[in-house]
Amino acid sequence: MKNIVFVTNNAHKLQEIRNIVGDRYCILSLSDINCNDEIPETAYTLEGNALLKARWVKDKYGYDCFADDTGLEVYSLDFRPGVYSARYAGEPCDSEKNIDKLLSEMEGICDRRARFRTVIAVIIGNEVKEFEGKIEGTIAKERKGDGGFGYDKIFVPDGYKNTFAEMESCEKNSISHRARATKLLIEYLKEKI
Ligand code: IMP
Repeated sequence: MKNIVFVTNNAHKLQEIRNIVGDRYCILSLSDINCNDEIPETAYTLEGNALLKARWVKDKYGYDCFADDTGLEVYSLDFRPGVYSARYAGEPCDSEKNIDKLLSEMEGICDRRARFRTVIAVIIGNEVKEFEGKIEGTIAKERKGDGGFGYDKIFVPDGYKNTFAEMESCEKNSISHRARATKLLIEYLKEKI
């Protein structure tokens, strides 16, 4: 089995990807390789941040690896909060404050179109690739549901009446931005075995 590092310590993300990849790859976390670094996320784009994180691990630790970055992009706000989604209302990161800020900025705005976008950067040997997954939807006028995380309570995917937070996690995971980007990553990894 080949080793590949997922540049994260998020147990939920790790489990999700380990389930999908099965026994083709051994997916290591940052703690598995004894990396406790504060990896900088200083780029201005999702693509840039995903690549920064993957490059950091490849250059410093030598492992093949992949890293992701996700943002909520609101059309009428020039695609904000985008790369700043986690810390939109400042630090420390607080999802409820982020939602409050976004809802108040969007008061009176009719065009409520938005999308979640995930970029995954993968480095295997000298080959660098990026994959993107998107889901289009709208920002609700108020919170609905209590599942999920982040902006799930106010994001209604196109073709649905419910917010992500009102969906079963398996339903969200079957259509989500992250699932779509991950699917492309998996197809690529399968080719590489
Ligand atoms: P990350 O790059 O996966 O850490 O995501 C950055 C931020 O985007 C998170 O802190 C959340 O605020 C938001 N976000 C990412 N994915 C989702 C999602 O599936 N639902 C709601 N919010 C999300």
